[in-house]
Amino acid sequence: MFKKVGKLLLGAAVSSMLITGIACASPIVIKFSHVVAEDTPKGMMANKFKELVEQRLAGKVEVEVFPNSQLFSDDKVLEVMLLGDVQIAAPSLSKFERYSKKLQIYDLPFLFKDMAAVDRFQSSPAGQQLLSSISDSGILGLGYLHNGMKQFSASKPLKVPADAAGLKFRIMSSDVLAEQIEALHATPLKKPFSEVFTLLQTKAIDGCENPYSNIFTQKFFEVQPYITESNHGVLDYMVITSTEFWNGLPDDIRAEVKKALDESIAYGNKISEEKAVEDKESIIASKRSEIITLTDEERAQWVEVMKPVWKKFENNIGKELIDEAYNANQM
Ligand code: LMR
Repeated sequence: MFKKVGKLLLGAAVSSMLITGIACASPIVIKFSHVVAEDTPKGMMANKFKELVEQRLAGKVEVEVFPNSQLFSDDKVLEVMLLGDVQIAAPSLSKFERYSKKLQIYDLPFLFKDMAAVDRFQSSPAGQQLLSSISDSGILGLGYLHNGMKQFSASKPLKVPADAAGLKFRIMSSDVLAEQIEALHATPLKKPFSEVFTLLQTKAIDGCENPYSNIFTQKFFEVQPYITESNHGVLDYMVITSTEFWNGLPDDIRAEVKKALDESIAYGNKISEEKAVEDKESIIASKRSEIITLTDEERAQWVEVMKPVWKKFENNIGKELIDEAYNANQM
């Protein structure tokens, strides 16, 4: 009798330990590091991802979002992702050339006429294939996220390319962007995003290139009296993770995380369209910076000066791919 009760008690204790053990199993933590403000397409996408994951996988997965380069700069984030210090990031497509020369396509000046063309190319089989172009480095591209078309800003009005000659421009770490600035007889400086405001404020640089959302949220418009609506290139992102982390997730969790990611990317892309308009309007309303609209003739001069950059990177990227991207303008 005592033996039986003892066995029952032991059984109860073991199952209660098991239940407690399961309940206490630590959730999987996903650290999402990025460099922009929260009130941007990427910032809002990251926060939406956190919200969806924690709603649907409560207790199983937690998402920690680190905006504003709080954790890592983009130049560091790929390295630390491979070490397991960050699980998701979304650096701009300009930051991957060390890993895949094909991705240089996104920096070619005047390749895409607008975001609709960018979207068409990214959704095409060729655009989708580029997402796996860095997989040899252990990084997986999970999707594209939009920000918008880039505009030049400077300490003086830039109407024609000759106006930019002799100026110093901050660029992202991309050789294509360096060539693009050199084509203007200006000096490119590769600097982290977090340093741009101070570089502009202290006049260590004269100008930069950004979509409206970054110009507004980083307050660049307060230290750049002129913005030229050049729409000369695109600033978009690749949402990435490490192959090791991704493959190590249980199948059901991975599927749910991917679904949340796809939904938050779609949300971020919608926000990007709204932000491009809203943030431009806020800059105009601030009266701190004048937005210069180019005439067709002025714009043609920028195209003429910067387009030869394509030829220099044709071998890296492949002519066929460039043609395919260019054709996305005509659909
Ligand atoms: C930059 O460095 O200018 C961009 O990559 C910032 C960003 O993520 O939008």
